Parts: sequence; C-alpha cells; structure tokens
Amino acid sequence: MTESALLEVRDLAVAFRTGSGEARAVDGISFDVGAGESLGLLGESGCGKSTTALSILQLLPRGASRVEVGSSIRLEGEELLTSSPARMREVRGGEIGIVFQEPMTSLNPVLRAGDQVAEAVRAHSPLDGARLRQRVESLLEQVGLTEPMEVARAWPHQLSGGMRQRVMIAMALAGEPRLLIADEATSALDVTVQAAILDLLDDLRRERGLALLVITHDPAVARRVTNRLVVMYAGRIVEEGETDAVLDSPAHPYTIGLMQSIPDPERPGTRLASIPGTVPSLGDWPPGCRFHPRCARSQARCSERYPPMLDGHSTRAACWLLDESPS
Ligand SMILES: Nc1ncnc2c1ncn2[C@@H]1O[C@H](COP(=O)(O)OP(=O)(O)OP(=O)(O)O)[C@@H](O)[C@H]1O
Ligand SMILES: [Mg+2]
Repeated sequence: MTESALLEVRDLAVAFRTGSGEARAVDGISFDVGAGESLGLLGESGCGKSTTALSILQLLPRGASRVEVGSSIRLEGEELLTSSPARMREVRGGEIGIVFQEPMTSLNPVLRAGDQVAEAVRAHSPLDGARLRQRVESLLEQVGLTEPMEVARAWPHQLSGGMRQRVMIAMALAGEPRLLIADEATSALDVTVQAAILDLLDDLRRERGLALLVITHDPAVARRVTNRLVVMYAGRIVEEGETDAVLDSPAHPYTIGLMQSIPDPERPGTRLASIPGTVPSLGDWPPGCRFHPRCARSQARCSERYPPMLDGHSTRAACWLLDESPS
C-alpha cells in the first residue's frame, strides 16, 4: 500500500437490514487504488463487490444499509464517508466515474445517445451550443465510436450492446474523472465485444492515467485489464497481489478453486472443475475462516479463528496454510 494512493479504503464494513436483524455484506476490507493503476475486485456472486463500489459512491439504499463506524474511504486524502451530499454529487461523475453492467437499463430509452452524453457533460461544466456538441462528439470519438455524429443522433435501441456500453463510458468520462469504477461492465457482452471494451479501458488508463477499479466474477476479465487483484469471499478479502501472481500461482484454496472452475475453452459450456457448495447467504457466515466448509484442506483451527493476511510465495492470503508457526 502506497502513501500516494488515489483511493484508500480502510476497514470498510457495510451491514444490510435483513429479516433477522443486521448482517455485514462487507466485513472489514482495505485496499488502495493508485493513480493510473488498475485494481480488480474478483469473487463469486454475493461476496460484496457491488456493495463495496456503491459504498465508495454513497449509492447504497438508504434506510436498508449502514456503513459502520470505523470505516474510511479517502479520495486523495479527503474522507468521503463524512462528505456532504452536495460534495458527493460533485464526486459522482466528477472525480469518480462509474459504468454498470446493463447499458440498456442505464441509458434512457427515450433520449438520443448524444443528448444523454450532453447531460453528463452539463452536470460538470457550463458548455452549451456548438461547444457542447463538439465536446459530445469528442467524447464519443474517444471511446472508439468512429461515426460520433450518427451515434449522437441515435436512440439507444438503435445501437448494439457494445456501442451502448461505449456511450456509457463516454458519459462516465464527461466529468474527466481520475478513477473509473466498472462493475461487471462487460458481463452482458459477447466475448469479442467484451475484449474490445476492456482494451478501451486499458487504453484510457495508459493514455490519460485514468485509474480503474474493475469489478468482475471472471478471472479472464481481471487478467486482461488489471495490474493488481483483490479476491473477495463472503465479505472479506482472502487474497491479493499482482494480477498474474494471483491468477497463476494462487495461495488461497478459494482462489485455486476459482481458477480451476474457469470455462474449458475446448468444450464451451463446460467447466473444468468447480468448488463444492455455494457462498453462504448474508449473515450465515460460518465461524473461523468463512471458506472452511467448502475447503478440502481445512484444519481444526480453520473453523475456530479467522486467519490474518499472511505472506505466501508471491501473493498475500488469509489462510492458515501459510502460517509457519505451530498451531
Ligand atoms: N439492498 C440490499 N438489502 C439486503 N441485502 C443486500 C442488498 N444488496 C446486497 N445485499 C446482499 O449483500 C451481499 C453482497 O451483495 P453484492 O451485491 O455486494 O454482491 P456482488 O459480489 O456484487 O455479487 P454479484 O456478482 O451477484 O453482483 C449479498 O448477500 C446480497 O444478497
Ligand atoms: Mg454485483
């Protein structure tokens, strides 16, 4: 963790109100995103990835959720969790842009694409008339849309899924953010379009130093577009390190299982192996290591105490297997 991080998340804990009281969906996670860096958050459905992203932007459902005392989210040193609603409106779409999974639901179906990008520009600058149109076209061009004027005139349903996602990225870039959060931004797209969008994000990072927080359940997405990777399980971080190290020589049995359960390219639709069982539902976390009921290498202490983050061969992981001291 560096001192100059753009975004610093410390001890973030978020609880949701459930039928039987409150339960933590995110339970004490810490990570940094450096300027111009691409960090991945990887994990199965329900492990707390979107809750983390929504906490950063303060978009969690009010009343149903609570960010717990002791949590901290700093953007260039500024604590966002105590910022005013007005300041957070500036931050959202200003310093931090966001792209979600479903461009068809995120775009307004009754507004032309260009008008929606124009609205995003106007939220952060007073441009209008010809200068506004120029800015919209330039943004559409920057996201690889080669006929920006035609795209600007189109209705969302006239655009392909990949083009809609590019329009969403153009809107996210309108406020010239330093950080872009992409939450399963390419999951709804087919593989070649997905690769093109990920390459666009990577170009934006390299060319203009845009930092990325890429949320995905897919190791292939993480590999294509992130430098560093954090693996989450049941609201906690179980492993972190350089992306290639985490994916090629994982230390945590959960990450090892995730890597073994990637789709078999030789036989589409099949998986090489999968982790037995499922992610426990919210509030049903087992004692000790939350993964231990699904872990083939579980020992007695795994069900008793949560393991600290320990140094592995080339990553850090929360697993007692890495503990050299006598148990
Ligand atoms: N508004 C809410 N009220 C109650 N529980 C919620 C709410 N939003 C999320 N949860 C619960 O919090 C946990 C984490 O959800 P979250 O959406 O962060 O997971 P995720 O990692 O993004 O999963 P996915 O890959 O499916 O998007 C889940 O158990 C989910 O059911
Ligand atoms: Mg999610």
